[in-house]
Amino acid sequence: MATIHIDDRACNADPKQNLLHACLSLGFNLPYFCWHPAMGSVGACRQCAVKEFKDEKDAHGKIVMACMTPAAEGTRISIQDPEAVAFRAGIIEGMMVNHPHDCPVCDEGGHCHLQDMTVMTGHDYRRYSFLKRTFRNQYLGPLVNHEMNRCIQCYRCVRFYREYAGGRDFDVFGLRDQVYFGRQADGVLENEFSGNLVEVCPTGVFTDKTLKRHYTRKWDMQMAPSVCVHCGLGCNTTPGERYGMLRQIVTRYNREVNGYFLCDRGRYGYEFVNSNRRIRQAHIIRDKNTASITKAEAIQHLASLVVQGSKVIGIGSPRASLESNFLLRTLVGPDRFYAGVDDHQYRLVLTMLDILRTGPCRSPSLREVEVSDAVLILGEDVTNVAPRMALSLRQSVRQQPMQSSDKIHIPRWDDHAVREALQDAKGPLFIASPGSTRLDDVATRTYHAAPDDVARLGFAIAHLLDESAPEVLDLPADLPALAAEIAQALRKAQRPLVISGPSCYSEAVIQSAANVARALCMTGQPTGLSFTAPECNSFGLALLGGTPLGQAFTAVRDGAVDAIVILENDLYRRAPAQSVDALLSGMPPVIVLDHLLNQTVEKATLALPAGTFAEADGTLVSSEGRAQRFYQVFVPEGDIQASWQWLRDAMAAAGRRESTAWTHIDDVIAAMAAEIPALAQVRQAAPSASFRMAGEKVPREPERSSGRTAMLANISVHEPKPPDDPETPLSFSMEGTPDQPPGALIPFFWSPGWNSIQATNFYQTEIAGPLRGGDPGVRLIEPAPLASSKYFTQVPKAFAPSRDDWLLVPLYHVFGSEELSLSSPGIAELAPKPYVAINGEDAKRLRVEAGEQIKIELEGAAYRLPVKIKPELPLGIAGLPVGLPGLAGINLPARSVLEREDKPSHTS
Ligand code: SF4
Ligand code: SF4
Ligand code: FES
Repeated sequence: MATIHIDDRACNADPKQNLLHACLSLGFNLPYFCWHPAMGSVGACRQCAVKEFKDEKDAHGKIVMACMTPAAEGTRISIQDPEAVAFRAGIIEGMMVNHPHDCPVCDEGGHCHLQDMTVMTGHDYRRYSFLKRTFRNQYLGPLVNHEMNRCIQCYRCVRFYREYAGGRDFDVFGLRDQVYFGRQADGVLENEFSGNLVEVCPTGVFTDKTLKRHYTRKWDMQMAPSVCVHCGLGCNTTPGERYGMLRQIVTRYNREVNGYFLCDRGRYGYEFVNSNRRIRQAHIIRDKNTASITKAEAIQHLASLVVQGSKVIGIGSPRASLESNFLLRTLVGPDRFYAGVDDHQYRLVLTMLDILRTGPCRSPSLREVEVSDAVLILGEDVTNVAPRMALSLRQSVRQQPMQSSDKIHIPRWDDHAVREALQDAKGPLFIASPGSTRLDDVATRTYHAAPDDVARLGFAIAHLLDESAPEVLDLPADLPALAAEIAQALRKAQRPLVISGPSCYSEAVIQSAANVARALCMTGQPTGLSFTAPECNSFGLALLGGTPLGQAFTAVRDGAVDAIVILENDLYRRAPAQSVDALLSGMPPVIVLDHLLNQTVEKATLALPAGTFAEADGTLVSSEGRAQRFYQVFVPEGDIQASWQWLRDAMAAAGRRESTAWTHIDDVIAAMAAEIPALAQVRQAAPSASFRMAGEKVPREPERSSGRTAMLANISVHEPKPPDDPETPLSFSMEGTPDQPPGALIPFFWSPGWNSIQATNFYQTEIAGPLRGGDPGVRLIEPAPLASSKYFTQVPKAFAPSRDDWLLVPLYHVFGSEELSLSSPGIAELAPKPYVAINGEDAKRLRVEAGEQIKIELEGAAYRLPVKIKPELPLGIAGLPVGLPGLAGINLPARSVLEREDKPSHTS
């Protein structure tokens, strides 16, 4: 630590950081625009000016930019110096000359960094009285709105979009004395992280277009700490609600997980909560007639089916909370609880969990992914499966080159200088997968091959790293050199990382990744092994245990079932339609708990409205193995409640013994932790409901002094008593402590004078460091000693293409492959139409061209799909997009014949 002097106060600072970082970490109010804690400094805006003095005798000093000056030992600066104050005020006044001053009608108003900095700097009178510069705004797609007149030319947007996120369709354009930030022409922003512009831009140039359609100010929203449900990474989010409608999602900083950013699926997928397909009332179906019933009747009905001794089975869900799955497991008994995913995927998830729990490699957090200095990806399209991880990987390729800028003493925070020094240099990233991926542009090498061949490459690399790993004898001529190059790069790295997962549905790919990671551990390197998870609680469901879904089908066929309870799960996305029809049609009672009407709900005899992540409390386990709590944001209309509450109430009504001790979620968590050793630590994921600060709860709304209007002003400006929340330490409304809660309980970021998301600075132990009180979540999975693991030995045979027997592999889309986000209009608009992808040579052989139809028969169903040419796909392999309407429920990989369809037709 260095000692620096700020306005004559001696302070400790990290000498590897700059003065702006130091001042903000120490809690000083110093304005800034172009610096960003994740992107570093470029010195563009001149807003962070301070006066620096040579020593205590220096009475004159000089103006320096705090973000461009190291916090070196003995540095003396003044923030309050009149010249520095005047300089900052002048800069703001210059910026505001052309700003439209349209705060009252600007979506950013009330949580705008420019507003905050303008107030902080004391600029309150506009002297400029001439015409302002104006621009034409662009259509940027359904997610991000553009209003260029508000720009203050800080360059953060273009730095984030191009340099940080790797986008190419957005830039800064200059003409005479004007600069313009946008696309060459109107069009949808292509980068899957474009929504971060909304938070990165310090003013209202880029705003959330989905919020615009149901706009409300930040101070009028009710918010709660939450976790994204749209992939397995568990990014932390802050959803905002007003008048019973979810309005937006913004980033909730968690240093170990998502840091400052989200992907667009996670930011914009929330609108399914407001869908008109929501189930809001319990209903019962008798003789094909649907009738709404009261909550009490529904509970009684369910209770009558689950009395002790009845043969009820339960189908759990990887998109439901641990608590809901645990309650269902308890309700039906562990032997009758089925994991609600197809058997193949379930087996793969169990394999991955076993590797992480018995193997020597740590499953890294996204922060650790970001600082890895050599990465091998086997079989995963990371951007489309676990999007936020791809953003971390884009930073990881800078790690090795940055060692050379370290050598010439360029501090890492000096972003422009580092990028100038490194130019396009990239560290090692190797990707082996069937199709191309969005990370190929930063990869050192890519290898596109069938899943078995991807696995063979992995096995070969492991053997090169450690001879005791099994050898691959018959590699094709070009592969040994590639394997050797990858092995050497991994061996040279200080923090190597291997990434794989179940996306190819290949056990061999997962095992080969485990072998590579283990071989690296044998050399003594601290190696990361990261597996993606298919859904937000896939790992949690697997830790809970359960019988594979296929056996539920068998049990029903065998007539050994009185009733079936399906938890938040559309089985038509898990298995072919004929099998699910057979399961549900002739069945005794089918009880479904879910959020949205879907094919499975249509088959229910009793449907119960289940709360989404915004209307329920619960815990999810991410692919890192981190258990994280999400909190109810608002009390919904109708009879909606958390699935675990429906099941608890039914157990109580049925007189089940356990239910008498389970009143609240904390009781359920305690019971689950006691019964399932793998989940014992879940209790530590967040404080219990009894947690108080100075005797008070944590409010879900900002304070009244911030200007909020009545909570239910749409009904009355007289405030009714807000609902109680006996489940958590949070209160509905703004009643509660004004103090900062611990990390897991932060409902929104706000600090005096800091209304924008930049208030995050004041919740961290230091800028970009952990949250005060610790980052949310608890890791449930840690590595075992090296000696307790073994190498996998089953090396698969090489893939042999066949004219009559194509291998169909799954392809993933950030917009379209995930179920819930697809019910959000903006995401649905960006999802592709169903297609089949093949190599150009294969297309020639089939005599089809792009856009023409191909017929595929799979498990008794015929699909007619337009062809997309993907030159990188190996011969004999066809790619089918996962989860799109009309294609959900197909079990992939599959073998089939592809035929040219002479008559155009539609998907069946
Ligand atoms: S658009 Fe926003 S982020 Fe980009 S330069 Fe202008 S003010 Fe900065
Ligand atoms: S990466 Fe996954 S968890 Fe994170 S915001 Fe995107 S969809 Fe949500
Ligand atoms: S924040 Fe320092 S110059 Fe912009």
